[in-house]
Amino acid sequence: MSKAVFTDFDGYQEVADAVEMSRKLGTNFTAKRDLADQYIKRLHPPKMRLRVTDIFDETVSTKTFRMVSEDPPMPPFQAGQYIALAVEVDGVRTSRPYSIASPPNQLGFYDITVRRVDDGVVSNYLLDHVRKGDVLESTGPVGEFYHNPIFHKNTMVCIAGGCGITPFMSMIREILECDIDRTVHLFYGNKDFEDVIFHETFQWLSERFENFHYYPVIEEPPEGYDGCRGFITGKLVKETLGDLDDKTYYLCGPRAMYDFCLPELEGLGIPRSRLRREVYGALPDITKDVSWPAEVKGDASFTVQVQGKGSFAVKASDSLLTALEKNGFILPVQCRSGECSMCRVKLLGGKVFQPPGVLLRKSDRKLGYIHSCAAYPLENLEISL
Ligand SMILES: Cc1cc2nc3c(=O)[nH]c(=O)nc-3n(C[C@H](O)[C@H](O)[C@H](O)COP(=O)(O)OP(=O)(O)OC[C@H]3O[C@@H](n4cnc5c(N)ncnc54)[C@H](O)[C@@H]3O)c2cc1C
Ligand code: FES
Repeated sequence: MSKAVFTDFDGYQEVADAVEMSRKLGTNFTAKRDLADQYIKRLHPPKMRLRVTDIFDETVSTKTFRMVSEDPPMPPFQAGQYIALAVEVDGVRTSRPYSIASPPNQLGFYDITVRRVDDGVVSNYLLDHVRKGDVLESTGPVGEFYHNPIFHKNTMVCIAGGCGITPFMSMIREILECDIDRTVHLFYGNKDFEDVIFHETFQWLSERFENFHYYPVIEEPPEGYDGCRGFITGKLVKETLGDLDDKTYYLCGPRAMYDFCLPELEGLGIPRSRLRREVYGALPDITKDVSWPAEVKGDASFTVQVQGKGSFAVKASDSLLTALEKNGFILPVQCRSGECSMCRVKLLGGKVFQPPGVLLRKSDRKLGYIHSCAAYPLENLEISL
């Protein structure tokens, strides 16, 4: 019989000898596998219980919640990742993702910074009802929005809108506190000056560190304001940076800001491969999406039949996930923005609207799966969970 190719790999012989020895000694690898499982669960826990130990006011509409694990140690994370906090509001169990704003070089606690969204269910609940000492449930840290030193350039251009500043706070603090050889240009857009989160900290850091540059951009600035005004446009980015090459661009904020900034950056000739993004939720009114079918009104009502589990009514403008949660169905959920695949369900009948940019795997498309967080009913539906 010919020799197997892998026997030529470096280290093969050592591994083969160890396996042979353990066979002779009768080593029980099942016990070791359980240990490995325990380590993996510690590093990537599917669920955590977090006690709120402090709450800080940031702006009139924003607070930071400092949280400590009830089952320490806190798992490590990459600056830019988020946790999905689960809460029960008016009898409905739901969750929302929040980026970790504290840096990963300290794991005593996680900070999340939450801005109030008008009529928003969870942001209002957290800001108005959560108190020091409360325990919240969350996922472990997850997400793909972080700097990868192998693929990403060492000059980061961070473009944030509103509460989309939080992952950048974590990244910037890690870079500056750990003296990492990386340069950051932060463009931070807000409607009003008093909405700017972490302004004093960024101002102070930019005066102290040569590798951090801060450009607040205010849509409706107060009288006497002498910084950048309006929106974060391609022209502003180009005029500020000059050379656009050798940089990776990170975009984070609400959907409307993303929809505005992405074409601006693409208009500068920045290829998608150098653009990283994190979009905070859907449009406030999904029927305003340019590809929404005009013939379906947002308040149109349809029926969702859940195979073997009953049926309920749903409005076209409600995501399928929101409707499922309101009717007591609990799905595994992380990003709520159509990216992670956790909330997928199988569409057996009917038609849904899926906003452009939803990242469905090819196999999911083929087998009829949809992301329920980014699917809106256009007809009566039949699904299986
Ligand atoms: C990966 C990720 C990380 C996030 N990190 C943070 C964070 O660090 N801090 C933070 O405050 N938020 C963050 N968000 C947004 C957060 O998850 C919620 O969407 C937000 O708190 C609103 O939830 P809500 O329940 O109050 O509003 P909902 O009841 O879900 O929504 C109410 C209405 O407001 C719209 N809406 C939802 N979110 C926004 C928004 N951000 N801006 C404008 N309109 C909105 C909805 O489309 C809806 O029409 C993050 C989102 C993602 C995807
Ligand atoms: S929760 Fe991530 S795709 Fe729906």
